[in-house]
Amino acid sequence: MGNCLNPSPRIESAHSPRDASYSSKAASSKRSLFSVSSSRTSYSIPSTHSGQSFTDKPSSMTLPTPRSEGEILSSSQLKNFTFNELRNATRNFRHDNLLGEGGFGYVYKGWIDEQTFSASKPGCGMVVAVKKLKPQSFQGHKEWLTEVDYLGQLHHPNLVKLIGYCSEGDNKLLVYEFMSKGSLENHLFRRGARPLPWATRIKVAIGAARGLTFLHDAESQVIYRDFKASNILLDSEFNAKLSDFGLAKAGPTGDKTHVSTQVIGTHGYAAPEYIATGRLSVKADVYSFGVVLLELLSGCRAINESKMGIEQNLVEWAKPCLGDKRKLYRIMDTRLEGQYLKKGAHAVSMLALQCISQDAKLRPRMSDVLALLEQLQDPKAAVFPLPEDRYKTANVIAKSPMNCNLLSLHAAAVGSPLPSHPQTPLVH
Ligand SMILES: Nc1ncnc2c1ncn2[C@@H]1O[C@H](COP(=O)(O)OP(=O)(O)OP(=O)(O)O)[C@@H](O)[C@H]1O
Ligand SMILES: [Mg+2]
Repeated sequence: MGNCLNPSPRIESAHSPRDASYSSKAASSKRSLFSVSSSRTSYSIPSTHSGQSFTDKPSSMTLPTPRSEGEILSSSQLKNFTFNELRNATRNFRHDNLLGEGGFGYVYKGWIDEQTFSASKPGCGMVVAVKKLKPQSFQGHKEWLTEVDYLGQLHHPNLVKLIGYCSEGDNKLLVYEFMSKGSLENHLFRRGARPLPWATRIKVAIGAARGLTFLHDAESQVIYRDFKASNILLDSEFNAKLSDFGLAKAGPTGDKTHVSTQVIGTHGYAAPEYIATGRLSVKADVYSFGVVLLELLSGCRAINESKMGIEQNLVEWAKPCLGDKRKLYRIMDTRLEGQYLKKGAHAVSMLALQCISQDAKLRPRMSDVLALLEQLQDPKAAVFPLPEDRYKTANVIAKSPMNCNLLSLHAAAVGSPLPSHPQTPLVH
């Protein structure tokens, strides 16, 4: 059964933080360059600036145009912080203020004045998260710039807000809105964390799916490329926001289906065809989304090297149980204590199964994934009807313009009398 608290492969940090909110990690082993099997595209930064806003109204960039660092920084309306300002805002990067550590640096809690953005006393003004890149990291610098470029232009309630940056010599920092509940990774896997209820898991999945849908359906499509539990941040009400756009990449244009690029990502989340060929499409993000759905279902990490054999790899371990209602309980997170509707869990497992299809073409689009998850969340929706409502519901679903692959998922979830094939959810 699920409930796997053991950490994924990682190197423990040499620094031992005192702050209880800090989750010990050394992410250097989590994200890695896989062997490069395709011709590497030259590093390019997409898009033009479309004007920054601090509203929650979604906005996206228009044309993908490579830009230099100078152009990106000068055109951005992000606040350009001095290193000293951020040192003051974080009390000299105090250990007590450490929120977490990623592959490319440490994240600290800080306080700035809401109007002037200058450092303010702890507890006064606006709380921010300050990410300080480890110096001398070439990859880190590239990711820092890509993040400034994308998050300087993309605004959506399900993307974390970048407030500003600092670029003084080797000192590269990023300043984000503070996400008080931290990362999904911490909630699912941190020892001692209170288990997330089922409804919250669905809420988080929906928020993250909205973020990805926004990127994929933007006028200039964006492939996120780093979808994983640690990059899903949560606000005080468990609204999910995607963070870390350092690996984001402009999607294919015209009638192209993919872009060819260096293979980089996190073990356990990266799509097999992308690892094998370097061909990247939005369907790679859909695969990663499927892996996170499995993490939400099982409470197990995508990769857990403390396990033996097939159990080390969540996809391999869980797959045989996903299409089968009688086997699903084997992988469900025991910390849920059975507090979920079996049909809902089955529908999510079927959705996950589609998302992790080996064949990228068989994976659903994120907009379809989102539509199905929203149905699961809506108590009035078709997914959990009373028995007498079943036939009516199934007819409503059958008339919807929903992707036909997902139709079978709905049908399975409602126990529809319409022909459905819950054991083989993929409609070819
Ligand atoms: N805006 C934020 N608000 C609150 N906490 C944050 C914020 N950004 C990051 N954190 C915390 O810092 C941790 C480290 O984040 P970071 O993005 O550097 O690394 P990561 O995503 O865990 O790993 P990787 O480098 O492999 O992407 C997060 O897991 C989260 O707990
Ligand atoms: Mg991250």
